[in-house]
Amino acid sequence: MADESGFSKGLAGVVADATSVSQVQGEVGRLIYRGISIEELAEKSTYEECVYFSLYGKLPNQNELNKFNAEMKANRVLPKTVEAVIAAAPRSAHPMSILQAAVAAMGFDENPVNLKNEEHNIHNAIKIISQLATAVARISRERRGLAAVAPNPELSHAENFLYMLNGSKPNKEEAHIFDVALILHLDHDFNASTFAARVVASTEAKLSLSISAAIGALSGPLHGGANEKVLEMADAIGAPENAKAWVANALATKAKVMGFGHRVYRTMDPRAKVLRGMLEKLVATKKEKDTYETLRIVHDSMIEELSKTSKDYIWPNVDFWSGALYRLMDIESIDFTPIFAVSRVAGWSSHIIEMWRDNRIYRPAAKYVGPADVKYVDMKNRK
Ligand SMILES: CC(C)(COP(=O)(O)OP(=O)(O)OC[C@H]1O[C@@H](n2cnc3c(N)ncnc32)[C@H](O)[C@@H]1OP(=O)(O)O)[C@@H](O)C(=O)NCCC(=O)NCCS
Repeated sequence: MADESGFSKGLAGVVADATSVSQVQGEVGRLIYRGISIEELAEKSTYEECVYFSLYGKLPNQNELNKFNAEMKANRVLPKTVEAVIAAAPRSAHPMSILQAAVAAMGFDENPVNLKNEEHNIHNAIKIISQLATAVARISRERRGLAAVAPNPELSHAENFLYMLNGSKPNKEEAHIFDVALILHLDHDFNASTFAARVVASTEAKLSLSISAAIGALSGPLHGGANEKVLEMADAIGAPENAKAWVANALATKAKVMGFGHRVYRTMDPRAKVLRGMLEKLVATKKEKDTYETLRIVHDSMIEELSKTSKDYIWPNVDFWSGALYRLMDIESIDFTPIFAVSRVAGWSSHIIEMWRDNRIYRPAAKYVGPADVKYVDMKNRK
């Protein structure tokens, strides 16, 4: 909402458009996809079914889901040009940079946008959603000096991604946990990357270029990049016994604690709750418990300390627990944010398709605060 300055910094509280894809209910800590709570979808659905639901706005019947699954599987193989872009990237580059380029390259043969042809746009989205997972796995393996693993059409989206990433099929439990993590990250109303996708697509730019822009927005540490930073923080803390003192120091020095805070939530992020429940089950089956223990103490100490201050609205968000979960699956921290994109690409696509039904270019106004009548000074007269 605009304050006395005449604008709203960071567009806080500004309603920029209407959507029926998802809603964040920040005061009560609830998130719904097209009206259904994420808890219910996490319990009963699959990532593929949620993608269909998000794109088409209705739950699929069995026939529709079978057809959709077949289309997702048929689109998993990357075009040679995208493989070449990935291969050309230096191994030192962050995977989000490579992914942004790879997704832009997915559109080399994309036709200009036809807003009226929604069916075509949805098929195009399915292709990008499917290929993006293959690209993320391939980028990771290139970095680690490993040969790419071809997609396996026998496997679900989550299973196949872990298979392409690790070179071996995941066990049922880990595949299920990963599938639920994908569901939880699928959409989140007008978050920064979705807004970026919508802004670019509102110019009638191609889907691939709009999604590529969203990947850039997601990469930042204030957004999706936070999941990688949370694990860097846990590693820097070093051991659970250091965590309480670390939190006290962070709060005293006004340092930002990654994985905490949100523009909309004023209570616990519901995704963090579901992720933590799964993480606790998984950690019980593993020998290495230190990262979880460190984060648990950071989590509890933050909530305890903040509750004594005026900042009691700062709570853990989705990124606090996701990295710890992925680490228990032996995934490297640098791949956490690309994995966020593997899921969120479905939300970005759904928003664009929804918006194109009644498109108007995003073009907000600015409050100009510079001088109004400056004289041009010739080069020879400048100091
Ligand atoms: C998510 C985030 C970008 C929201 O930003 P925002 O709505 O603009 O909120 P602000 O950054 O203005 O925060 C408001 C106040 O809370 C404090 N705050 C917000 N997040 C904090 C955090 N993670 N740790 C400590 N303090 C925090 C800010 O310092 C600010 O304090 P001030 O009023 O004294 O200046 C912000 O909370 C953040 O940077 N969190 C860490 C990164 C993260 O986890 N991102 C993932 C989001 S899903």
